Amino acid sequence: MYKIAVLPGDGIGQEVVNEGLKCIKTAAEKTGFDYETVDYDFGAERYAAEGMKGEPLPDSALSELREMDAIFLGAIGDERKVPRGVLEKGILLKMRFSLDLYINLRPIKLYHGVDTPLKDKGPEDIDFIVVRENTEGLYAGVGGFLKKGTPDEVAIQEMVNTRKGVERCVRYAYELTKNDPDRKRLTLCDKANVLTYAHDLWRRTFDEVGGEYPEVEKDYAYVDATTMWMVKNPEWFEVIVTCNMFGDIITDLGAMIQGGMGIAASGNINPHGVSMFEPIHGSAPKYKGTNKANPLAAICAAGMMLDHLGEKDAAKSIDKAIAESLSSGKIKDLAAGKMGMGTTEVGDLVAEMI
Ligand code: IPM
Ligand code: MN
Repeated sequence: MYKIAVLPGDGIGQEVVNEGLKCIKTAAEKTGFDYETVDYDFGAERYAAEGMKGEPLPDSALSELREMDAIFLGAIGDERKVPRGVLEKGILLKMRFSLDLYINLRPIKLYHGVDTPLKDKGPEDIDFIVVRENTEGLYAGVGGFLKKGTPDEVAIQEMVNTRKGVERCVRYAYELTKNDPDRKRLTLCDKANVLTYAHDLWRRTFDEVGGEYPEVEKDYAYVDATTMWMVKNPEWFEVIVTCNMFGDIITDLGAMIQGGMGIAASGNINPHGVSMFEPIHGSAPKYKGTNKANPLAAICAAGMMLDHLGEKDAAKSIDKAIAESLSSGKIKDLAAGKMGMGTTEVGDLVAEMI
């Protein structure tokens, strides 16, 4: 019996999570596994109601989350209620750091029947995985101000790279590439020509660990060039491993070439503990309660979660159902409000296909 923590969060979070849960339920009935969900209401509304005092995600909740088999998250943040950055840091990043979710796995896959802005590119060209380091780099929150608010102000934000942190990320990417029969090339995306300390460590670690993986073809691309190739020749990429900030940036581009934020999902993974799965998109508060949000990214994230739990058949059935729903032509567009059907109807369609 799996115990799944559900954090719908803010805005459209609840609506898309509902559809993800609908598909998990259907897949569980079909393939036969048991699970229970535990609901948590952390997010803008609760924090605002608490007068924005204390922690948006208290340590007691983290202790509970640690005991779960997986966490399913909707979307966090509503700037109309809580200032920008507070919940990102206080909930999302806190979860990533405290639960040591050191891998952010972001598949970039164009399904048949989905439009990509890249002309002349199709599903056979756009199918790679980004392995983003998820606990260090520019996200570590190390830095400070000097003479803040004066003309002489200095602001410093440090990029923290530890050998251990880089190595476990790079190793994860090598293992993933090695064990995937459809992929053999691993590209390190960095900026080693300019970040001559931080990304020198990445290069050396990539090369050293790479010695243990002779079967994996190694490749290097600077981050600026990576964005160019993602548009010009996305078929060159099979697996990309990169630092936290670059992974954040290139996966928004990745989401666009795979059809938009409506379909982009991610897994925040601790291979030795509980992991968290979420759509990449934000909470889009203006669409809350309108039945307009696209739940496919949340459904994809649900599929990734089941795959991670070892429910391979269930995960495959969800992925296949998403593919069939999209190739059926019934979903007109992946953007919110343009799907030609509502959030719940998209969820119903995928559940039916499962
Ligand atoms: C993401 C988001 C987050 C990030 C924000 C909301 C903190 O953009 O998951 O990609 O920067 O990692
Ligand atoms: Mn992002």
